[in-house]
Amino acid sequence: MIKKAITYDFNNTIIDRIKGPSGISAEEIESYIKKASEIHNILASKREIGGLPFYELPYRKDEVEEIKALGESVKEEMSNSIENVLVIGIGGSSLGGIALIKSLTHPFYNLLPEHLRKTPRIFYAENIDPDEIMGLFELLDPEKTIINIISKSGNTAEPMANFLLFHKFMVEKIGEENFKKHVIVTTDIEKGTMRQIANDIGARTLKIPEGVGGRFSVLTSVGLFPAYLAGIDIDLLLEGAAFMDRLCKNEDIFENPAYMNAIIHYHLHTRRGVNMAVLMPYSQALAEISVWYRQLLSESLGKTYSLSGEVVYAGQTPIKAVGAIDQHSQIQLYREGPFDKIITILTVKNFKNFLNIPALFDSYEGTSYLGGHTLNELFEAEKQATILALVKSGRPNIEITLPEINPFTVGQLLYLYEVQTVFAGFLYNIDSLDQPGVEAGKNYAYGLLGRKGYENMRDEVNNFPESNKRYIIG
Ligand code: PA5
Repeated sequence: MIKKAITYDFNNTIIDRIKGPSGISAEEIESYIKKASEIHNILASKREIGGLPFYELPYRKDEVEEIKALGESVKEEMSNSIENVLVIGIGGSSLGGIALIKSLTHPFYNLLPEHLRKTPRIFYAENIDPDEIMGLFELLDPEKTIINIISKSGNTAEPMANFLLFHKFMVEKIGEENFKKHVIVTTDIEKGTMRQIANDIGARTLKIPEGVGGRFSVLTSVGLFPAYLAGIDIDLLLEGAAFMDRLCKNEDIFENPAYMNAIIHYHLHTRRGVNMAVLMPYSQALAEISVWYRQLLSESLGKTYSLSGEVVYAGQTPIKAVGAIDQHSQIQLYREGPFDKIITILTVKNFKNFLNIPALFDSYEGTSYLGGHTLNELFEAEKQATILALVKSGRPNIEITLPEINPFTVGQLLYLYEVQTVFAGFLYNIDSLDQPGVEAGKNYAYGLLGRKGYENMRDEVNNFPESNKRYIIG
């Protein structure tokens, strides 16, 4: 296991290389030094008074001990027949855990035979798609399944509905008394319906620390508990995050990858109309990190109002891409379409495996050049070719390199993006920690389903003008 720093290379955003409308000069970057120092001081003083609790997550040893203790008892129960953990949660309550499990376990973790896996299979019920939920009913044996329901607010319609469905499904088979041993509730320390239900049924619980929003909660019990159950070294993950924290304490933007990444994205967006940010790992394992990043950016920076109440419509659109797959789809647009994207390539220096491509069918020109190379070399060559092609067509791109994929490097990467996002919030002068747009959708849904206290929302939806048939085809 390589316990090394990830590297952040922004050469391919600089005008010397990126000819055309999207290159940035060193002077443009340096013009942010004063502003960055002001934001740095605001962040430091907010942090000092506990105003940004996500910053402290790498250091909450007590909570980690609680997570491990509960995880150990689940693993013990495994020897008495527990095979599956079903995590119920959505958005910030699911995406971080999924990103950890996909990046840090076997690529086909759930499909591995038990003697190779040794830890429970982990499923996620995120959506409320009846066909998918029925699929889980068909797959999971209640006697062999533990449910981990995660909801910070303890009130969100989707996880609540799925919890009710799985409660009935499980209780019918194993009985009410037994059910409480099969459920673990991760929620706010005291607020919310889910906390009350946990108390009512006497379920085991884990807490989500006060003031840590869903999309910043991957390093709390939200992400750490499922990760621990899947056999991931969560101490090392937090060590990686703490390592990045030390870098991110640097006021000098040329020493701080989170600040520099925020500045480059913000500058290209607000001065050059680069309103999309692509995250493209050349790694299947890191693909779900792009999905986590998509939420982090969207919910944090997509805001109508500035902190002083002006209409600003802030935020870049984050896009998920995966190399080399998307070289055969999106890259055409990125190279030749509008100059409205910045692309971050995630590179893995050392994969766990080296695979030699067999020198077969070497009388054919279409295969002979591959034989004798490794799959790793081909992956690297494809990535380099993409970067070169982007540079040649004047498209700004950044390369973040992980020496290898392990908890230490993934911890760094996640933490870097969280600090970058909060720093960017100050550049845009918006509140990166609220999510009024998400709340509005939740409230309309409550109204439509007749939840008490949301009658105005229901009326608003019901009074929506009828659709004009002329604009409906079919
Ligand atoms: O980041 C956020 O705040 C949201 O995406 C929430 O995580 C999501 O809506 C789920 O909320 P909760 O965990 O309260 O059920």
